[in-house]
Amino acid sequence: MAYKLGLIGHPIGHSLSPWIHDQFLDLAGLEGEYKLYEGDHQALPNVLKQLKEKAVDGFNVTVPYKQVIVDYLDDIDEDAKILGAVNTVVNVDGRWKGYSTDGEGYVRSIVEPFPNLLNNNTSVLLLGAGGAARGIYRALVQQQVKTVDIANRSKDKAEAFLALRTGDVKTSVLSYHEAEAQLAEYDLIVQTTSVGMKPHVEDQIIQLDNLSKDTVVSDIVYQPITTSLLKDAKQRGAKIHHGHAMLLYQGQLAFEKWTNKNLDVAHLVDRLENKLRGE
Ligand code: ATR
Repeated sequence: MAYKLGLIGHPIGHSLSPWIHDQFLDLAGLEGEYKLYEGDHQALPNVLKQLKEKAVDGFNVTVPYKQVIVDYLDDIDEDAKILGAVNTVVNVDGRWKGYSTDGEGYVRSIVEPFPNLLNNNTSVLLLGAGGAARGIYRALVQQQVKTVDIANRSKDKAEAFLALRTGDVKTSVLSYHEAEAQLAEYDLIVQTTSVGMKPHVEDQIIQLDNLSKDTVVSDIVYQPITTSLLKDAKQRGAKIHHGHAMLLYQGQLAFEKWTNKNLDVAHLVDRLENKLRGE
């Protein structure tokens, strides 16, 4: 059978998802298509009707529909429900079930190059408290690390994350200034805001004067590939982790849900980087 997959969102003309899923289909030896279904809010009901009639096997959901899609689903995964956001829909015998693959995708992307990083002694600092941070926070907590602190400009937004906690993972809500002062305490620092994204490539969310060489600094921004924060961290001798890896691994997880194929995609990280560089 030929898989019918795709993406809804607005705008999505520059999305890398078709390229990523074409690689996955090839790798899995499967026939199929991954198409863009673009539409503004007014067009959304018709776009979804089209997907229903076409009986797609599944699709991804991106900005600005990660929340509103919930109203169109027959079923929702527990984590996606708690997060209040869906980025992957699976057609299960004609019923649409929603998942969120961002957080677990992030965890997979970091565990691949740093297999021993996440354990019950790991301290993580999350920078930012937006939609991307929510999924990553929940997935890190589920890894049962020791601490996941959150630093954000507005502290009340970060405090709302406490409702996403499970187990005995500790979380403190910090200002960026407070986080900078205790930076050496962390094994992993994850930057989840848009600060440093093209065209504002000189911007950097925190200063790294207190960074330890043993810390992994991760930035989910992938345009540019190496943000100002990552360059700074690298110059200080720390290890770095690029944002495009998360994109690949959240796709890997979505693909797995649609096709039941568990692919080894590690070799595609560099190819995606080349693709982003326009090579
Ligand atoms: P996303 O869904 O991509 O995570 P979002 O939900 O709009 O986007 O979240 C944006 C995050 O980036 C928030 O943590 C926001 O901080 P506030 O909650 O204080 O607004 C953060 N952010 C965006 N621009 C920022 C800036 N210039 N300085 C500091 N934080 C910024």
